[in-house]
Parts: sequence; structure tokens; C-alpha cells
Amino acid sequence: MTTETTRVPLDPFGADIPAESVRLRALGSVVPVDLPGSIPAWAPTGFASLRALILDPRVSKDPRLHWSLWEEVNRKPEWSWVLGWVGVVNMLSTYGPEHTRLRKLVSPSFTHKRTEAMRGLVETITADLLAGLDASAAAPGGPVDVKAGYAQPLPMRLICELLGIPDDLRDAAVTMMNDVFDTSDPSPEHAASVQQQIGTVLPALIAYKRENPGNDLATELIRVRDEEGDRLADHELLYTLLLVIGAGFETTVNLIGNAVVTLLNHPDQLAAVRAGEVGWETVIEEVLRVHPSIASLPLRYAVSDITIDGVTIPAGDAIVTTFAAAGNDPEQYGPDAAEFDIHRGADEHLSFGIGVHRCIGAPLARMEALTALPALFDRYPDMRLAVEADELKQVPSFIAFGWQEIPILLHGK
Ligand code: HEM
Repeated sequence: MTTETTRVPLDPFGADIPAESVRLRALGSVVPVDLPGSIPAWAPTGFASLRALILDPRVSKDPRLHWSLWEEVNRKPEWSWVLGWVGVVNMLSTYGPEHTRLRKLVSPSFTHKRTEAMRGLVETITADLLAGLDASAAAPGGPVDVKAGYAQPLPMRLICELLGIPDDLRDAAVTMMNDVFDTSDPSPEHAASVQQQIGTVLPALIAYKRENPGNDLATELIRVRDEEGDRLADHELLYTLLLVIGAGFETTVNLIGNAVVTLLNHPDQLAAVRAGEVGWETVIEEVLRVHPSIASLPLRYAVSDITIDGVTIPAGDAIVTTFAAAGNDPEQYGPDAAEFDIHRGADEHLSFGIGVHRCIGAPLARMEALTALPALFDRYPDMRLAVEADELKQVPSFIAFGWQEIPILLHGK
């Protein structure tokens, strides 16, 4: 990408991601954009162009091998925030055999069978959190934040069980992940704080698990590192743990939160779900399509020149994957693509990715949402938002797509 190319800055706060997608799509099917700090990248703006680029074998996820700006990224303080995403070596930032090796270490923990085995635990955590909400609702004093009290702790507790994260590291892990996803402050200071947290929390977890091994994924990865070192390097161990914590937690929090807000904003559709006319599975897929928890993800790279819809992405250029733009694409879903509609029968979305990097945790995320949502709506049939819908604020991120807080009157008054 030449420096003369006019690039559209992506909003680092992600304040109105659907509107931004519409503006980008009006400019073409693949558009040059600036990520925070003015990092140049190409953004596919529709379903077909995103799908084609993700599945194209000439598109890599390894910046060390295929990003022409890699050395510059490591020199420029104002670009250092992106290293928290692309400079961490795990399956999300590798290509070809390296990706296969790293993915194979984790994927056995997320099969349908292993996921099914976690259902009882998800139900227990859900029941416990509902009891906590009951107690908050009984106390006078207004609305309850259903994100803080329900949507957030369920995936967090589950991922902590899965990895064997001890109680005293859990809050630090939550803060670390919130800071990784916060792209509103691309300053070198924020980037340094993220790196400092990664360099503290994860070594503490690894040290704890070496001392206290358990029947969990962190213990298994440490065993592979210690006994079969050529399959997993020290830094890959650390960054794989970071990925599983981040991918498994923030994403599912926003799926549950987005579903709650969207259903409360569409009482007619909620009534159809309650009446059993439409299943919760359909609700969850429609929420994922229209409000994907990962709106955009940095980064991929063109291994050679790639021409798509008349636009050439030169070899070495970066590509940001734009799941929200794809989910709202009128060419794929019709003129009302941006509307939530459980009756539309959309049978495909890209919100869990596609191809070799497709989401490992999709069955788990679906099972968590499928447990949490009916339980919440059954327990509080009269609940409603405590503020107007337009008063809710998005999390400050162009990557994560969810609400900062979800104040709810659980008994409708
Ligand atoms: C609603 C919840 C979730 C959403 C929307 C989501 C979304 C995604 C997307 C879009 C990708 C593909 C990234 C790409 O192509 O570059 C991905 C990959 C991944 N996800 Fe998820 N995810 C969710 C939940 C989870 C959970 C619960 C876990 C694990 C506990 C998880 C673990 C992963 C991992 C490890 C990858 C990397 C796969 C690879 O690069 O080979 N995700 N996810």
C-alpha cells in the first residue's frame, strides 16, 4: 500500500460499528483503512470478499514471515499496541505447519464430546449466578448490571476451571483481557501496560500450575512443554494460554450480553421465542450474525499480490478481518441485513471464522449461551432495560463488539 493511498480511519472506540460498516461498504468491496495509530491495512467490507480472503491460501497470519511493515511495527512506539495481537506467537498468528502444530495441542480439549462433558458445570455456575442476581434484585436500590453479575462471570469461571486458574489470579486475568481488547488508547504507555500484565499474570499462572498440577488444559500444555519441548516453546506456551483466556472469555461475555439487549429491544421476537415458535439456537445464530462478538480482528497478510473485485492487495500488505461488516452485508442477507430478525432463516455467518483458523471454542460458546439465556429469561419474565437503548455504551474497541454495562430492572420495575 503506498503512502499516497487514501485510507479510512477505523474508529478505535468502535462506537457505532454497523454504521461504520455501511460507510466502508459504500467505498468498495475491499477498502484501505487505518487501524489505531495509523497502521495501514485492507478491509473487506462484505461477506463474499471476507470469505474469499480468509480461505485464500495466499493469505497468511504470520507477521514475522509475511508483513512488509514487521520491522517498522517493532520500531514505532505508536504502533506497539498491535503487538498484543500479532506479536504473540500462538495459533492465531501463525501459518501453515506452525499453525497446525499449535492448534493440535489445544483442539482435543474443545471437541463436542469434551464440551458436552462441561454442560453440568455450566448449569451449576448459571444457577449460582442466578441466585446472586436474586439477592441483588431483592435488595432495594434499582437496576442490576447483568453484564457484571451474569454475562461476564459465567464464561470467566468456566475458562478458569478449564485452565485451572487459581482464584487469586482471576481478577488480574480479567483486567489483563479487558486492557488487551481496549483499542481506544493506542499509546505506547497502554501497550507497555498490556505487555507488563501479560508478562506477570501468565508466568504466575505457569509457576502455580507447575507447583499444583491438575486435570486441566494449562497443566497439559505445561507437560507438553516440559516433556516434549520441540512441540511447544516457552513463549508459545505463554501466548497459547493468553489466547485461550482471551478468546474463551471476552467473546462469550459479549454473545450473552448482546443477546440479552437485543431481545429486550425486540419484545415481539422475544414473545415468539417464549412461545416456542423459534428455538434459542436460532436466536443465538442471529445474534452472532448481526452483532458478532469479534467485530474485526487484526491481522492477516498477502503472501503474493491478490486481486479481488478489481482491487489488488500487494504482497506484504496487511488485511483486517471484518466479521461485523460481513454479517450486515445486504448482498448476502437482503436489504434489511442490519436488522435482527429471528425469522429470516439466515443459515450461514462468518462470526466464528471459517477455514483452518475457524473458532475452536464455537461449540462451547454456543452451549454456554444456550444454557444461560433461557435460564435468565425464564427466571425474570418481566425484566427490561433500565435505560433507553441509545444510552448503552459500546466497549471501547474496534475488535470486541459488546456493551460496557447492561443495567436491567429484573422485575420490570
Ligand atoms: C461467541 C463466542 C466466540 C466468538 C464470536 C469467537 C470468534 C472467533 C473467530 C472469528 C475466530 C477466527 C479468527 C480468525 O479467523 O482469524 C476464532 C478463533 C479462535 N477461537 Fe473463538 N470465538 C468465540 C468463543 C471462543 C471460545 C469459548 C474459545 C475457547 C475457550 C475460543 C477459542 C478460539 C481459538 C483458540 C481460536 C483460534 C483458532 C485458530 O487460529 O486456529 N473461542 N474465534
